[in-house]
Amino acid sequence: MKRRIMLAIPILIIYLIPLSAYGATDQCYTCHSALEDKESKLFAEDIHFKKGISCSGCHGGDNTTEDNDAAMNKEKGFIGVPKGNKITEVCARCHASEKMMKSFGSKLPVNQFDNLINSVHGKTSTAGGGRIVQCTTCHTAHGIKSVKDPLSPVYATNIPKTCSKCHADANYMRTYNPTLAVDQYTQYLTSVHGKLNSTGDPKPAQCASCHGSHDIKPVKDIKSKVYPVNLPYTCSGCHSNKEYMAQYKIPTDQFEKYARSVHGQALLVKNDPGAPACNSCHGNHGAAPPGIESISKVCGTCHALNEELFSASPHKAAFDRKGYPECETCHGNHEIITATNKLLGVDKDGVCIRCHGDQNSSGYKSAYIMRKLIDSLDETKQSAMILINEAEQKGMEITEAKFKLRDINQVKLEARTQVHTFDPAKFKDIVGKGLVISRDATADAKVAIHEYYFRRVGLGVSVFLISLLAFGLFLYLRRIEKK
Ligand code: HEC
Ligand code: HEC
Ligand code: HEC
Ligand code: HEC
Ligand code: HEC
Ligand code: HEC
Ligand code: HEC
Ligand code: HEC
Ligand code: HEC
Ligand code: HEC
Ligand code: HEC
Repeated sequence: MKRRIMLAIPILIIYLIPLSAYGATDQCYTCHSALEDKESKLFAEDIHFKKGISCSGCHGGDNTTEDNDAAMNKEKGFIGVPKGNKITEVCARCHASEKMMKSFGSKLPVNQFDNLINSVHGKTSTAGGGRIVQCTTCHTAHGIKSVKDPLSPVYATNIPKTCSKCHADANYMRTYNPTLAVDQYTQYLTSVHGKLNSTGDPKPAQCASCHGSHDIKPVKDIKSKVYPVNLPYTCSGCHSNKEYMAQYKIPTDQFEKYARSVHGQALLVKNDPGAPACNSCHGNHGAAPPGIESISKVCGTCHALNEELFSASPHKAAFDRKGYPECETCHGNHEIITATNKLLGVDKDGVCIRCHGDQNSSGYKSAYIMRKLIDSLDETKQSAMILINEAEQKGMEITEAKFKLRDINQVKLEARTQVHTFDPAKFKDIVGKGLVISRDATADAKVAIHEYYFRRVGLGVSVFLISLLAFGLFLYLRRIEKK
């Protein structure tokens, strides 16, 4: 019996210590919750409360006394209600200090303050009173939740609304930048991402997955996650992650293929700002795969002539009828490679043979003729070049013919685009111009070479005559000498 009591005492103490410590130390909460004010009610669900942090953790003061004057005493560090930038400084006291956060056993990053003041939102508010946003704009002040809690305003499915409180408010946004669009939220709701997000799926992209959270930059800033050269990496953060995307059963190879494509190489390797990033084809906020009818318009924003020609070609109606996507059917989407003559024609590498297998069909014949035409352009150019090189090596002046050959390159570029008429007659008109040029250049080169030989013969003859003359002179001089 005695032993039992002996055992119960320490157990009782163990139970009482934290309770008494709690009750005795956090007088702020005790008194305020008795007042039933809004702040203490919210605070009961706050992550800071759950970590044992008191009202005084942010507001300062002495949380061990029941006396309100003594508790909320400026000399005890009571700051009252923080306003403007002071709000964020209150949070930063812990969240920007590794030491403070460690003292609570937390391993969270401590970069939010630094990131925020250097972000686009760190600018001064037009309404005065400090920066555009404070920590509490996104996280609230009392009732702060873990960001993983579905009730947090920055939980994935709540973020679009949290950001749009400002970004969908035209009157408010106008005071900063009248050119900034305010339709991101409505656009977003039409995207595959937005539709899933609004049904409660936290995994598809939301505002913060594409723009960041504390470190948001203006979209024209080279450090922005949506700046063209960075954007493909932002999208691939999810879209190349097999595990993350597994439940959606869509491919995860878009980035890998894109990075190899002529577009990806141009943007990511050559830094060509004219090359498309993922959003050039998919849209920004309304990201969705371009529909079958709209693909040529997407490509046509940059390849306008190809689109125009395609739309006027017999393929337009035929593809629409059969439900083939326009440009994509021949070029693919993510792995578009440099187009070469190989694509054209009825060889096994040609795209035309895929649909025009029947040798008697007009499609087959057209493809065959068009390929022959472009090949003959290459061949005549090649032979002109050989002759020009020969003339040049012989030291003949041949710049003009060389310039003409450059014009063939121009025609070739034009012809590659004119392929999209899929009309052998029109194609022949263009290629014909090139054939004429290469014929002229060939003729020029031949003339030059001919002239070279002519001059060489001429030189031989004149050397012979001069030698003869010299010899005659020599004989003549000898005769005079003898005399
Ligand atoms: C014994 C009760 C009591 C204690 C203890 C107490 N408060 Fe208060 N507090 C009050 C009352 C009452 C008010 C005034 C309410 C009002 O004006 O609506 C107040 C007001 C406040 C305000 C708002 C001040 C303002 O300028 O509007 C803050 C912030 C505050 N308390 C924080 C604290 C903190 C932090 C502690 C602990 C260090 C604390 N309180 C301890 C009763 C208390
Ligand atoms: C995580 C930091 C933090 C903690 C902890 C905290 N507050 Fe606050 N509180 C703030 C900030 C920041 C503001 C001012 C800005 C705002 O309301 O967004 C504020 C404002 C207030 C106000 C003024 C509200 C108003 O509308 O003017 C009162 C009262 C208050 N707090 C009481 C408390 C009480 C009581 C507790 C504890 C139960 C507490 N706070 C805990 C950060 C905190
Ligand atoms: C007294 C120190 C202190 C102050 C002041 C403070 N915090 Fe905290 N905060 C913490 C600690 C400790 C945690 C819990 C960390 C953990 O779980 O690892 C936390 C957690 C959080 C979380 C949840 C993070 C997560 O795990 O998802 C958010 C959001 C947050 N604080 C925001 C704020 C904001 C906003 C303010 C200012 C209004 C603020 N904090 C002021 C110490 C503080
Ligand atoms: C523009 C909205 C916004 C503002 C302002 C903001 N946060 Fe956050 N915060 C977020 C979002 C969104 C997340 C979710 C995680 C993520 O995507 O990085 C987050 C996450 C956090 C976390 C969890 C750990 C982490 O870094 O992911 C903490 C702690 C935090 N914020 C504290 C703060 C503090 C402190 C401030 C003020 C210096 C602040 N936040 C200002 C939006 C904001
Ligand atoms: C799938 C990625 C993605 C999502 C999700 C996303 N954005 Fe964007 N956002 C972009 C891209 C890409 C741009 C444009 C970059 C450019 O113009 O070069 C952009 C541009 C912006 C701009 C600059 C003005 C404009 O409209 O061009 C704002 C503001 C903006 N986004 C806010 C938001 C908000 C708010 C949300 C959430 C409702 C959001 N974004 C969701 C990718 C995204
Ligand atoms: C308190 C209002 C407010 C909230 C909340 C807010 N923003 Fe902003 N944001 C602004 C203002 C104002 C600007 C314009 C600053 C300027 O250009 O002078 C801005 C600028 C931006 C820009 C840069 C646009 C550009 O110039 O290219 C992006 C991107 C952006 N915000 C995204 C977000 C995201 C994502 C969220 C949510 C996590 C968010 N904002 C929450 C007010 C807000
Ligand atoms: C936070 C992760 C995440 C980011 C970042 C992200 N996405 Fe997504 N995306 C998803 C998820 C999840 C889906 C839903 C898959 C589904 O069922 O279609 C999706 C769907 C899509 C779809 C529709 C696919 C289909 O056929 O259904 C397109 C297109 C798309 N994303 C493009 C983009 C682009 C472009 C970017 C970058 C600007 C991007 N995504 C950034 C997660 C992300
Ligand atoms: C040159 C235009 C273009 C670019 C650049 C582009 N896409 Fe696509 N994307 C398409 C087309 C076209 C489709 C297919 C539509 C169809 O056939 O239904 C597609 C389909 C998708 C799909 C649906 C699933 C699939 O693979 O069919 C996702 C997801 C996607 N793209 C993401 C991306 C991402 C991420 C990037 C950047 C790394 C990107 N796209 C770059 C044009 C493009
Ligand atoms: C029926 C197949 C087919 C379709 C459909 C098609 N192309 Fe082509 N495309 C070709 C062939 C073949 C070539 C290569 C010509 C060559 O190099 O000889 C080519 C070459 C190109 C080139 C490189 C030459 C140039 O113009 O700079 C671009 C760009 C191009 N296509 C864009 C498009 C666009 C945009 C669309 C949709 C409007 C489209 N293509 C539709 C077959 C097609
Ligand atoms: C944002 C502008 C843009 C969009 C949208 C775009 N492209 Fe391109 N495309 C380019 C640029 C720039 C190049 C040249 C890259 C290089 O060679 O450095 C290129 C190159 C090409 C080439 C290779 C041209 C050659 O000379 O061999 C083809 C084929 C092509 N694009 C087809 C497409 C198709 C099909 C689409 C739509 C699915 C598309 N492009 C969408 C800008 C764009
Ligand atoms: C995806 C299938 C497909 C591919 C690839 C394709 N075509 Fe066609 N083409 C058609 C269809 C369908 C028609 C409509 C007439 C028909 O059914 O034969 C057509 C019609 C034509 C016509 C008009 C012939 C007539 O009978 O009116 C020409 C010329 C033609 N294609 C040339 C080409 C050339 C050249 C290529 C390669 C660069 C090519 N096509 C690639 C499907 C294709």
